[in-house]
Parts: sequence; C-alpha cells; structure tokens
Amino acid sequence: MDVATIVNELMGPEGCRDPYPLYERLRAFGPTVRSDEYIVMVTGHQEIDEILRSPAFGVIEPEVRVQFEPDYLDHPGQTLLGDSILERNAPAHGRMRSLISSLFTPRRVAALAPAVTAAVEQLLDELAEHGDGPVDFLDAFAFRLPIGVICELLGVPEQDRHLFRPLASDLTATLEFLVGDEELAAADRAADELSRYFTELAALRRADPKDDLVSALVATADADPQRLSDTELLANLALLLVAGFETTGNLLGNALALLFEHPGTAAQLRDGTLDPAALVEEVLRFDSPVQLTSRIALTGTTVGGEPVPRDTGMMLLIGAANRDPRRFPDPDRFDPTRGGGRLLSFGGGPHYCLGAQLARLEAVTALPALLRRFPALAPAGPAVRRERLVLRGFRTLPVTLTGR
Ligand code: HEM
Repeated sequence: MDVATIVNELMGPEGCRDPYPLYERLRAFGPTVRSDEYIVMVTGHQEIDEILRSPAFGVIEPEVRVQFEPDYLDHPGQTLLGDSILERNAPAHGRMRSLISSLFTPRRVAALAPAVTAAVEQLLDELAEHGDGPVDFLDAFAFRLPIGVICELLGVPEQDRHLFRPLASDLTATLEFLVGDEELAAADRAADELSRYFTELAALRRADPKDDLVSALVATADADPQRLSDTELLANLALLLVAGFETTGNLLGNALALLFEHPGTAAQLRDGTLDPAALVEEVLRFDSPVQLTSRIALTGTTVGGEPVPRDTGMMLLIGAANRDPRRFPDPDRFDPTRGGGRLLSFGGGPHYCLGAQLARLEAVTALPALLRRFPALAPAGPAVRRERLVLRGFRTLPVTLTGR
C-alpha cells in the first residue's frame, strides 16, 4: 500500500474503527513521511514531541487556513474556536493562556476532588435506578460526569447542561480531516447556538457576578479588552466547555471497553491491587481520546535532521506516537503496570492540555467507584465506535449493571 492509500483508509470507516494497524503501515516508511506536496504525516514519538515544542512550528491560525480553504471564514462551525488559545500562536496565545491557566492551577484542580467524588456518587446512584435493564454507559455516566464538572467550574446552570452533548458533537466534526456538507451545516448551527448561549451567560454574569469562571473571564475582558477581547472571551468559553467533556467522556468509555476486554485488570482495580492512576495512564496511551493534531512550519526548519520547508502542514498522529516501539516496548500490549514513558495524549509544548489534571482526577475517581458499586457490570450488546478519527470514542456502549 502506498502512503496516499493508507492516509485515505485512515480517514475512512476503517481508520475510525481501528487506526492502529494503519499507523504501523505508515510507520514502516519512517517516523515522518510526506503524503503529498504540502503535508507530512508524523508517527514518531520523538518527532511529534520535538514539533510540539519547537517555535519553528505553530498551530494553523484562521488567517492561514483561509488561504487553503477560501470559504473557511463563512462557517461559524470552523471559526468559533478561531480566537481561542487552541488556534492562536504567540503572542496572542501566551496573553490569553496566562489568564485562563491562572484559573486551572494544580491547587484549584486538587481542591475539586471532593466535588468530583460527590458527583461520581450521585451519578452512580442514578445509574442504579436502571436496575437490570441495559443502559448506555456513555449517556448515563461517561459524558454526564465531565459535563457536570466543567459546567460547575464555568458556572453553567444545571438546567442548561443537557444542551451541550449534541452541540459539542456537531461542532467537533470540523476537527476531522473530511467534513461533509451536512456535517458542516450542523457544526455551523451548533456554533451559533453556543455563541448565543455564552453571550447571554456573559451578560448575566456581568450584571450579577458569581464565584465562577465565566464571571472571572468577563471581569478580565471588561477591565481591559486588550488582554481579552469579547470574541476571544466567547471563543475560549466555548473551547473550555467542549474540550472539558468531549475528550474526558471518551476516555471513560474507552477505559470501560478495555476493562471489559481485560477482566483480570478490572478485578485488580476493584479490589484495590491496581493503582487507578496507572490504569488511566495506560488507557490514555493505548487508546487516546485525541488521536491527532496538526501544526504548520512557520519557517524553514528540520525534524529529526530532515529538512521541512516553510508552510508544510504536519499531521501529528498522537495515537501512533503512543505506540511507537522506540518509546514503548511491546506497544500493542495493554499493560497498566508498564509505567514510565511520557505520553503525548495531552499534547506538549505551549498548547499542552490545560485540563490534563482535571481529566485524570475525574477518571481516577470514577472508574474504581463504578466497578465497586456494580461488581457484575458487563457488556449488554456490541459497542459501536463513532465515525471519528481525531476524537476517538464510542457512539454507544451498552452495559448491564447486574450481569444478567
Ligand atoms: C482525557 C481528556 C483530555 C484529552 C485527551 C485532552 C487532549 C488535549 C490535547 C491533545 C490538547 C493539545 C492540542 C494541540 O496541541 O493542538 C489539548 C488542549 C487543550 N485542552 Fe485538553 N484534553 C482532555 C481534557 C481536557 C479538559 C477536561 C479540559 C478543560 C477543563 C481541557 C482543555 C483544554 C484546553 C483549553 C486546551 C488548549 C490549550 C492551548 O491551546 O493552549 N482538556 N487537550
């Protein structure tokens, strides 16, 4: 198979179902391989790490994207996050990131532990109400936990929280390689709705501030629009909401599917002989909820000694890097006791995930509690993958709580 064929398969149904054999085929060409005149696919751990940290590479800002996709700016589904930290390089990135990261300090996140435990217990109580009947783990638990946690932090009222899962799902379709017309239209509608929602919430908090993140960011923007403009405020609120749960919901789903495949590991997690943090790290490595990100060469440079001309697009296959045999021995073996080896699941360099510690806290709290509350938890039908490569997770994961 040539590189173009592999990349095509990766973007199709096979890549969404199981991208890992396709990554290995790409890796056979070396840690970096050109897929066409403008794009390089990167599977190597060391190379992706180098690119994420190098000032010679940046995220692809909207002003650059529009040169490749002339109608890019016509689609709110594509532009909503354009003024957020995720899609900006220095200096705007550093200016906004320092404001937002001051609200996500390790101390603040650690202080959330009791609230996360309480949220987990409440969701488990609600799950128990399903009795013997099959229930979709993603609907009933995996997404509800991170939606509740991020909404609490942001200050999104409880009665509005049910709105966000479909909106985030529609919006994040634009992160994929190929976006169909219908998906783009749905993403545009979702972006408009999220903008409207956060504009109204910001106005409410401006009039009546509370002890929440929306109020804090509104106050910053009002005090000095040079530090945070109104469009940047909106973009970052939408980013925090979506990034705060799309990925973490998939992490919980991917973890449970792996625990079903490895009942011995599940038993160890249940009886306390396996450190939940070690399990979560191995799930993040083995089946990362974010499989890829991209960068562009801002100047002519090199990667792993190979020349990279300016404006080359780099597809960074995080899911492949996490299974790079140069970094992780026997990488296709799921082994929570392996320890060591830095993961790239949360990215690296200036855009390193702001929510990494929070996501870990949620998963480490939820998974052992779930297995202990429902010792007979079992699959209740086939789990179905989403048709997504970039944000990897399940569409449905039916379970029975009583094993019957
Ligand atoms: C398992 C869960 C998660 C995974 C796998 C994940 C993964 C990532 C990755 C790979 C990036 C870097 C993207 C890039 O460099 O292009 C990132 C950035 C980001 N993540 Fe997460 N994330 C998770 C959970 C969260 C949570 C819970 C939050 C919010 C509280 C969050 C907020 C963010 C933000 C704001 C950024 C942008 C940072 C920047 O551009 O400076 N993430 N995440």
